[in-house]
Amino acid sequence: MPDLTGKIAIVTGGNTGIGYETVKALYEKGANVTLTARDEKKAKDAIEKIKSETKATGNLEIGILNLANFAQIKTFANEFKDKHNQLDILINNAGVMIPPASKTDDGFELQFGVNFLGHFA
Ligand SMILES: NC(=O)c1ccc[n+]([C@@H]2O[C@H](COP(=O)([O-])OP(=O)(O)OC[C@H]3O[C@@H](n4cnc5c(N)ncnc54)[C@H](OP(=O)(O)O)[C@@H]3O)[C@@H](O)[C@H]2O)c1
Repeated sequence: MPDLTGKIAIVTGGNTGIGYETVKALYEKGANVTLTARDEKKAKDAIEKIKSETKATGNLEIGILNLANFAQIKTFANEFKDKHNQLDILINNAGVMIPPASKTDDGFELQFGVNFLGHFA
């Protein structure tokens, strides 16, 4: 990756797994990264761990985002727009795979609702 100083990024589901590694990689390249998670403590723990593992100079922010709830998605988007006037990199990483039959808060099948509709919203 090239130097990302000055770039603004969002990684959904950045608290764990592939999302966590993606946040770390972007941060190491100097990006300002918003790590989204459903749970604030998980997000804070992930940010603390990334900072302890790297000597990067970028910036890390927390976004609380539950992709199974349209109202919450809107709140997150508005909060992000209040803080930033650009978005250069959007990594739609969060997702579930073949979960037990269940629905989003808005009544859509969970995997379609979270992985596709939530990120579209
Ligand atoms: N790993 C693979 O082999 C593989 C293969 C194909 C596709 N994928 C896809 O690649 C992505 C990352 O994979 P991974 O293995 O790193 O997954 P993971 O470890 O299970 O992490 C998934 C992330 O998505 C978040 N998430 C789940 N439901 C959410 C919701 N309703 N709203 C917001 N965030 C939600 C989780 O949050 P919590 O921590 O709060 O649960 C977690 O941060 C996923 O979309 C997965 O489906 C992975």
